[in-house]
Amino acid sequence: MTVPLAVSANDTGLFDLTGTVAVVTGGARGIGRAIAQALSAHGATVAVCGRTVDRLESVAAEMRARGGRAVAIRADVTRDDDVAQLRDIVLGEFGHIDVLVNNAGIDPHYASLEHTTDAQWRQIIEVNLTGVYRCCRLLGTTMIPRANGSIINISSIAGHIGLKRQVPYAASKGGVEQLTRALAHDWAEHGIRVNAIAYGFVETDLTSEVVTHPHIGARLRARIPLNRFGTLDDVPGAAVFLASRAASYVTGHSLLVDGGWTAV
Ligand SMILES: NC(=O)c1ccc[n+]([C@@H]2O[C@H](COP(=O)([O-])OP(=O)(O)OC[C@H]3O[C@@H](n4cnc5c(N)ncnc54)[C@H](OP(=O)(O)O)[C@@H]3O)[C@@H](O)[C@H]2O)c1
Repeated sequence: MTVPLAVSANDTGLFDLTGTVAVVTGGARGIGRAIAQALSAHGATVAVCGRTVDRLESVAAEMRARGGRAVAIRADVTRDDDVAQLRDIVLGEFGHIDVLVNNAGIDPHYASLEHTTDAQWRQIIEVNLTGVYRCCRLLGTTMIPRANGSIINISSIAGHIGLKRQVPYAASKGGVEQLTRALAHDWAEHGIRVNAIAYGFVETDLTSEVVTHPHIGARLRARIPLNRFGTLDDVPGAAVFLASRAASYVTGHSLLVDGGWTAV
């Protein structure tokens, strides 16, 4: 018996996001901006949020200038009222949320545990882990009545391996990895896919200090099989894939985009 070829084998629109509405937290710069622009280029209506309004406005304006539909909304992911207001604005303007990219994140301290303060621990966990939880609770739940949606949590290789002097950050990203798997299990019955993308070192404001450091940067680069840091061109493909029909059977997964770091 010959198994018929899947319809999708001839479907060149697998990555088409026309008609979908995406929210990208921390969309003002770096990885969030690159993902927002790529989702927009593939047809999604995009709401970018963060704390710095002028930068958000210029990212939204860039997307609109290329023919996309985009808005900038000020929201701090550590605040329930901000995220609830973000939800109300997006639902009011566009009616629904199909894709939630939980990208907002910080990594302000490189220090071993004995030099880490409680305040530093709390700050990183609050933004990187509780922020993801909060956005899933206030934005992701709006996907339940529609029985459809894709949540993409931005994680890190630090959530997979023990990077040095990164205890709070690693714990936050490890938490994001497990939140992703557990929520994928919970919400599979609602047709909502929940995945993570675990990036390696990508050149952004977050990492500029280490990747440009003459010794640390060179040592880190030598550790990467592809022998280079990621660029913002390397970033958005994984997010477009996970947002799209191409990933219709992918949930609870953490997609490593790390130049091979964790493979060796
Ligand atoms: N770069 C890397 O090598 C790398 C590797 C692995 C994972 N990641 C992860 O990728 C994500 C983006 O990192 P990036 O490198 O693009 O960093 P980035 O350039 O520093 O950008 C971080 C973004 O998050 C926003 N943000 C920070 N705190 C926020 C808050 N409380 N509420 C809302 N938005 C907030 C920032 O905007 P405002 O300051 O205006 O709010 C900014 O847009 C993070 O989750 C990071 O952990 C990065």
